[in-house]
Amino acid sequence: MARIIGCITTSHVPAIGKAIANGLQDEPYWKEWFDGFKPVHRWLAEEKPDVAVIVYNDHGLNFFLDKMPTFAIGAAPEYQSADEGWNIPTVLPFTGDPALSWHLINSVVAEDFDVTMCQEMLVDHAVCNPMALLWPGGDPWPVRIVPVEINTVQFPLPSAARCYKLGEAIGRAVASYPKDLRVVVIGTGGLSHQLDGERAGFINKDFDRKFMASLTDDPAWATRFSTVELVEQTGSQGIELILWLTARAAIGGVREVAANYHIPISNTAAGMLLLEPVA
Ligand code: DHB
Ligand code: FE
Repeated sequence: MARIIGCITTSHVPAIGKAIANGLQDEPYWKEWFDGFKPVHRWLAEEKPDVAVIVYNDHGLNFFLDKMPTFAIGAAPEYQSADEGWNIPTVLPFTGDPALSWHLINSVVAEDFDVTMCQEMLVDHAVCNPMALLWPGGDPWPVRIVPVEINTVQFPLPSAARCYKLGEAIGRAVASYPKDLRVVVIGTGGLSHQLDGERAGFINKDFDRKFMASLTDDPAWATRFSTVELVEQTGSQGIELILWLTARAAIGGVREVAANYHIPISNTAAGMLLLEPVA
């Protein structure tokens, strides 16, 4: 049977893609952030996942304001990387796993989640940067991917509680897949940030820290907040933390293997967590 071997969450700030393309990982601005991934690289080299289920938000590349699904799951054989306007070099295409994708889609629809099924899908910095952080070089990418996309861009957004339930359903779907696969679940985005408006530059270290800690011992903690409360606490883009929450909800008890929290990367309080299931 398929098994979730870990959950990794990381910010996906576009500037990370440029820093990688320009080889800036050891520059003072970037070093602490990139060094935070060293234990994750060691863990991935040992654990060797076959597939990454990657929970992310599209930023106007594949979906736009005219048509905005709440939840979408990719079922494509391949996902091309593209740039929706940040001028980040594209990366090599990602290989999909359509059979696992359709199993996830069938399973979550059977649990009353109405997902948009995407047999063609472009992926933006919210997939490409985390993949490049986790598997530097990416030539070829050592895992297949199943993208799970959640709207954090156009209101109304799905609640944290709803996302948590979707994550749990994804966990059950993986556990019922009758093929021996090692699956890592990735959540991208966050932590607190606001890119525009009166609170542009807003960061809330205290809330971010509480949220990160909750993911180990009290993962449903963030579900007590409404979407508006989460935006108040974390900024209008900080709401991307629901993507971390969805990924985390796919596994049960965990222990923390690695963590990093670094202010700022661009406008963002950047965070990373690696969690491993405990028996
Ligand atoms: C930034 C962060 C994001 O999550 C994003 O999607 C775009 C920009 C930033 O901090 O620059
Ligand atoms: Fe973002």
